[in-house]
Amino acid sequence: EWDQVRAREIIAAHGSLEGPVLPILHALLDEFGHIPEDAIGLVASDLNLSRAEIHGTVSFYHDFRREPAGEHILKLCRAEACQSMSGPQLARDLLDELGIEWGGTTSDGALTVEAVYCLGLCACAPSALYDGEPIGRLDRKRLDGVVREARG
Ligand code: FES
Repeated sequence: EWDQVRAREIIAAHGSLEGPVLPILHALLDEFGHIPEDAIGLVASDLNLSRAEIHGTVSFYHDFRREPAGEHILKLCRAEACQSMSGPQLARDLLDELGIEWGGTTSDGALTVEAVYCLGLCACAPSALYDGEPIGRLDRKRLDGVVREARG
C-alpha cells in the first residue's frame, strides 16, 4: 500500500547520510515491498537529483522491484554454472507455461519469478531460491512442485 507520508518519513530519516540513495531505496522496499513509481519522484526531488538518476539506480539493482510481488517468490539462478546445466531451458519453459516474463507475477498473484546471479550453490546447479529457501538440482519435477505449492 503506497503511503506518501510514510515514504517522506523514510526519506527524511536517511536524508542526512552520505550517499543516501541506496539506504532510502532499501528502506522503501522494506516498507512497501516494491519501489512505487511515485516514490522515485519523491526521492529525486528531496535529494535534488533527477528522476533519471534514481531510475538508473533502481533498474541497476535487481532487488529493487517496481511492482508488488506475488505471494511467493521464486528466484532462478542465471549465472554461468546454472546456465551450463540447462537452467535457461527450464526457466524458459516455466515462464512460458506461467505466461510471464522475468520479474513477472502470475495473474492469480501466487508467484513472482525473478533472476538471481549465483547463489553459491553451483555444485548443485541449476539452483533457485523459493521464498528464501535454497533448491538445488532443479528439474521439471521440482519446478512443478514449486508451482503447485505456490498456488496452494
Ligand atoms: Fe547458479 Fe552459482 S551459478 S548457483
